[in-house]
Amino acid sequence: MSHPRTQMAISKRRSPSCSLIALTMMVWLWSSHVVPRVAGCDGFDELFQPNWAPEHFECEGDQTKLTLDSSSGCGFGSRKAYLFGLTSVQIKLVQGDSAGTVTAFYMSSDGPNHDELDFEFLGNLSGEPYLVQTNVYVNGTGDREQRHSLWFDPTTDFHTYSLFWNRRYITFLVDGIPIRVFANKEESHGVPYPKNQPMRVLGSVWNADDWATQGGRVKTNWSHAPFVSSFRAFDIDACELSPETADVTTKCGQLGRYWWDRPSFNELGRRQSRQLKWVCKKYLVYDYCEDKPRFSELPKECVG
Ligand SMILES: *[C@@H]1O[C@H](CO)[C@@H](O)[C@H](O)[C@H]1NC(C)=O
Ligand SMILES: *[C@@H]1O[C@H](CO)[C@@H](O)[C@H](O)[C@H]1NC(C)=O
Ligand SMILES: *[C@@H]1O[C@H](CO)[C@@H](O)[C@H](O)[C@H]1NC(C)=O
Repeated sequence: MSHPRTQMAISKRRSPSCSLIALTMMVWLWSSHVVPRVAGCDGFDELFQPNWAPEHFECEGDQTKLTLDSSSGCGFGSRKAYLFGLTSVQIKLVQGDSAGTVTAFYMSSDGPNHDELDFEFLGNLSGEPYLVQTNVYVNGTGDREQRHSLWFDPTTDFHTYSLFWNRRYITFLVDGIPIRVFANKEESHGVPYPKNQPMRVLGSVWNADDWATQGGRVKTNWSHAPFVSSFRAFDIDACELSPETADVTTKCGQLGRYWWDRPSFNELGRRQSRQLKWVCKKYLVYDYCEDKPRFSELPKECVG
């Protein structure tokens, strides 16, 4: 792996032209109230809409297929935004040669100083393993990447990827197994924690061959396009807000109202803690908290 700092710095930019297109599309959608529907996408249509390249979506039974080719990738976002809860989706990633491609499943708030929770699946050459990169942005600041390999081939079957989020911690789960916890260390360490900004649920497939695969050394081989990732079984069990809701705390801030605030969700259970340790020991391949050369001083949440 080349120096992660360069990769990360590049990765943060996340396809600027695409985000610009996405933003323009979203503004346009918002102002005109014209919502492109993906014909026949059961379960997708109610919750989501394409926010760029709607022609790169295809429905097949309960699956929503996102296609990347040399003309474009594509992405979707939820119609509503959510504060806290559990969000899951099943994904079958690009098969065969997926080098240079990134499939993303994430949550993000709108506007500046945004909060964001990312799963980014970094493609690879045929037969070489995918990596899962996770990241947490709080108030506009990310730089909290971890990378994991997986204990299965994510391209042959659907697997469930989930984000659990309450006031105490955030968990990234793969088939119900926590691979990462971002704990609320606001009081103990003065680290900002996402808790005031509702987030949308988003997904995309895009070309990131400047950094994604083997540090950007392996480029997307367009003769293997189209690259297709399939999504299904979207499940959002969260406090729903419309983007106009001004006071998010009124609706979603009431302690005791939602299951994720129960004492049993104050921290990971014993079984999940064991699983997390197992994943950390066997599958963690990069952790920003261990990357001393990258930071002049390690981020506060990494210490203690
Ligand atoms: C968020 O970032 C903005 C601008 O960088 C800063 O002014 C503000 O104090 C930050 N808020 C929190 C809660 O850290
Ligand atoms: C791709 O495969 C190579 C060789 O096995 C490995 O070093 C790398 O971590 C894999 N993943 C990515 C995203 O480069
Ligand atoms: C791209 O794929 C084609 C078809 O499999 C192959 O012939 C070619 O060598 C590949 N290009 C690179 C740069 O690997």
